[in-house]
Amino acid sequence: MDLVSLILYIFPAYVANSAPVLFGGGAPIDFKRHLPDGNRLLGNSKTLRGLGAGLAAGMFAGVLLAYLLPNMFLPFLSFRLKIWVAFLLASGTLFGDLLGSFIKRRMNLKPGEPFFLTDQLLFLVMALAFSSLVFIPSYSEIIYLFLLTFILHVLLNILAHRLNLKRVPW
Ligand code: CTP
Ligand code: MG
Repeated sequence: MDLVSLILYIFPAYVANSAPVLFGGGAPIDFKRHLPDGNRLLGNSKTLRGLGAGLAAGMFAGVLLAYLLPNMFLPFLSFRLKIWVAFLLASGTLFGDLLGSFIKRRMNLKPGEPFFLTDQLLFLVMALAFSSLVFIPSYSEIIYLFLLTFILHVLLNILAHRLNLKRVPW
């Protein structure tokens, strides 16, 4: 795949990862439950609205790509399978995001505290794992995706912080 196709492929995951920052808020997914370690299951940063917004936005991005750029977004897959890939990327992304928060709380890290590599890349690991049910990129494509995602994540979070969308720049 060329770089543009690779970016289009992963785009639904990026949208699913960004939407909660824009549209999240309200009731936390863990309903404020604590585990025996004394820390929250997930914490206040993981909200039901963020989860719904991420899934919906990721799917919407996939549907748009499949309609508007059928020859660039996974051209070797049927329309149906493209939508499946978008769904798997979005649900993997959100699962990875929740898993990251779960691990951070078990390590006594508060919401907003940085956790290097997990914050930037766990969502991608899970998005790729889920999407591998339908499509598996090559090794070199996967390496490109990790590099690209790390760089974009750092830059976009600095931007989101400057725009007052996030409390911390990571
Ligand atoms: N967000 C949300 N619902 C989600 C994920 C994120 O509402 N499922 C919103 C929250 O407003 C959150 C913001 O997006 O504060 C940033 O998300 P993130 O960086 O993942 O949260 P952190 O505050 O860093 O918390 P954690 O340590 O749990 O990752
Ligand atoms: Mg964070």
